[in-house]
Amino acid sequence: MPEVYPSVDKQEMICAEVPGRPCGLVVFGGSGDLTRRKIIDSLFQLFVRGLLSDKFYFLGCGRKKLSDADYRVIAERAINRGDSSESQVCQFLSLFHFITGSYDDPEFYASIKKRLTELDEVHSVPGCRIFYLAVPPMLYGDIAANLGAASLSHTDSPGCKLQPRLVVEKPFGRDLKSAVELNKRLRAHFEESQIYRIDHYLGKETVQNILMFRFANAIFEPLWNRNYIDNVQITIAESLGVGDRAGYYDKSGALRDMFQNHMLGMLSLVAMEAPTSFDADRVRSEKVRLLRSIRPIEPAEIDKTIVRAQYAAGKCGDEKLDGYLQENGVDGDSKTETFVAAKLFIDNWRWKDVPFYLRTGKRLAKRVTEIAITFKSVPHSMFASVGLDEMPPNVLVMKIQPNEGIRLSFQAKRPGSKACMSTLTMNFNYSEVFQAQAPEAYQRLLLDCMVGDQTLFTRQDDVELSWGLLEPVLDRWGDDGSGLCSYPAGEGAESFDAADQLLAVDGRMWRKLSEM
Ligand code: BG6
Repeated sequence: MPEVYPSVDKQEMICAEVPGRPCGLVVFGGSGDLTRRKIIDSLFQLFVRGLLSDKFYFLGCGRKKLSDADYRVIAERAINRGDSSESQVCQFLSLFHFITGSYDDPEFYASIKKRLTELDEVHSVPGCRIFYLAVPPMLYGDIAANLGAASLSHTDSPGCKLQPRLVVEKPFGRDLKSAVELNKRLRAHFEESQIYRIDHYLGKETVQNILMFRFANAIFEPLWNRNYIDNVQITIAESLGVGDRAGYYDKSGALRDMFQNHMLGMLSLVAMEAPTSFDADRVRSEKVRLLRSIRPIEPAEIDKTIVRAQYAAGKCGDEKLDGYLQENGVDGDSKTETFVAAKLFIDNWRWKDVPFYLRTGKRLAKRVTEIAITFKSVPHSMFASVGLDEMPPNVLVMKIQPNEGIRLSFQAKRPGSKACMSTLTMNFNYSEVFQAQAPEAYQRLLLDCMVGDQTLFTRQDDVELSWGLLEPVLDRWGDDGSGLCSYPAGEGAESFDAADQLLAVDGRMWRKLSEM
């Protein structure tokens, strides 16, 4: 008898994680913020879950003079021990090493190479390497070139099934030209199959679930098109301000920092066609096909398509919040946007004329990321005779964070008069159902990189297309602050007039953050 659906055993088997392959992980920016905040602890959690190969080591690289012992103290401070035993912590820390040098000095790479050969021996790693660039973006190209010049970008070790991998953090370029240039520099030494461009949103369980929800269920996909969907809203709202990252952020702004990568990445997953298999390149090709279908933003239409604002002073409870211009490290005259809202269209059969409204901002009333699909209203109300000629539409909300889950609203009979109805919601909450917190996105991404799975990493054509799409906007906005609006930080920071107008002209409204 053929099996009609996978048995529970088979589903469980698919859930089993594949442990990382043997490798040495070399992190440039080894004592930097990202390494301490994200990378080290994510590796520790993988280690505790039994997902690090027993042939593994970590080599931090940086300018600071640190011995292995000093570095292990830094690593120890970075981990969240949870219930792990002292011996687990010691064993994990014994994998940490450090090498000091200057990123622009070819001699440094010769020393790294020598050290890697020694560490391969100590930790029984057969010459397999991952180079992780946790450094400011202006160094990416030079480090890649130096790795290439030191013959570290290829291995002919027979024990190594994967060529060295290069992991590159965002931002990947600051416009189309710089992204193309950076790709060219990386590709001069590494094949595309060796390059892992990080967009940490893709490592979030709920973002990956967009694919499962759409393509592992038969009941939603037939409705997932212009015939049934009225509009889609994607929101990434942050309650925090720029914090101590003004040096970077003031030269970037929300469009470069969040929109070009995380927002367009989520849009692609929500709107793309079904890939023929769950294979890295099939999935990434569909994402790219979707990006190609986004209607180009014509220079004359920019103001009707995308708007920006910056937070002014505000408050949260009794706490006074500084405006962006008062934040440490921000140029007092800065025109950098901290909020972007846009209306995009996708010119294909599935989505023609369905608006996709996207917004992201800092210092908003609430931290919430969600994708809301609003369906069309019923074509005819049989309840018109009792005064209900318009029904609230069904809304499907993918709650990306926090309170991860899915919510579907619908109309239902309520006890009372014959036509008494209410909008009810069906809720699925990840942590209640699975009784576990989703692992940090970096665990997923580091593990995938160690396994050699590029599905959740951004491909060269993807990054160039998304910058290309925003090129007219970047050109127009330049350093000129024309059209830059303002909103009060914190409590009550929902939107701003120009953002509301994007929807008002279509007779629609943003979903209220306070109700999300
Ligand atoms: C980063 C941005 O990529 O994402 C930050 O550079 C932003 O500015 C962060 O705060 C948001 O990520 P998360 O996972 O906290 O939603």
